[in-house]
Amino acid sequence: MDVRTCIEKLGYVGVLNFATVDEYGAPQVRNISAIHYEGTDIYFLTARGKSFARQLYADGRVQISGYTRYKETIRVSGKAVEVPEDEQLKWRDILYQEQPYLENVYPGESKNIDTIFVIRDYTIEYFCLSTRPITREYFTVGNAVLKTKGYRITDACIGCGKCARVCPQKAVDKGNPKPYVIRQNNCLQCGNCFENCPVKAIER
Ligand SMILES: Cc1cc2nc3c(=O)[nH]c(=O)nc-3n(C[C@H](O)[C@H](O)[C@H](O)COP(=O)(O)O)c2cc1C
Ligand code: SF4
Ligand code: SF4
Repeated sequence: MDVRTCIEKLGYVGVLNFATVDEYGAPQVRNISAIHYEGTDIYFLTARGKSFARQLYADGRVQISGYTRYKETIRVSGKAVEVPEDEQLKWRDILYQEQPYLENVYPGESKNIDTIFVIRDYTIEYFCLSTRPITREYFTVGNAVLKTKGYRITDACIGCGKCARVCPQKAVDKGNPKPYVIRQNNCLQCGNCFENCPVKAIER
């Protein structure tokens, strides 16, 4: 997998879930279809008065998720910024050309309430359940910084092999003889190894 293919797949999915954080710290998620991909830049359209836009102005953090027919989730995490005033019309025209139904939503002059945001710096988490073992990959675009998560086996490992035996995806490789190693690209991050290690050698 790679960034371009993830972007292409999101384009095929079409309507994506966009999550933001509201003024009370609560998650807000909604479907967004007016999206244009320019290289790795993700442009999208909303209306200035919507709660969605207010959350973008106030906070800007956005997470997008798309699900494909091949049991893949592609999750984009980044910060959205409003496109500068002098570029707004250019991107709005492109979005209306690509998605003519928008004219039905914002006919005539009413489209002046639209505003375009762009996400340039983001991370992608690709997660696929149709392979055995499962596949997970991370990518960074622009200046985004990847926040790592999941589990890691430390030097406290005594090489007993219990983590490998309890792993539902057989994603733990034998050490030589220790420490054992989690193959992060095949890990569900379910925590079963963590809960079962007799010497607490696995950290989150
Ligand atoms: C198929 C579909 C596509 C949509 N596309 C957009 C879109 O591109 N931009 C947008 O602002 N709202 C779009 N909406 C509306 C949003 O899903 C949402 O209802 C609206 O933005 C209000 O959300 P808010 O209360 O968080 O502001 C779409 C709704 C549907 C059902
Ligand atoms: S269960 Fe713990 S001690 Fe045993 S091999 Fe795994 S990490 Fe090492
Ligand atoms: S977190 Fe779950 S899937 Fe990942 S190595 Fe541990 S047991 Fe296996």
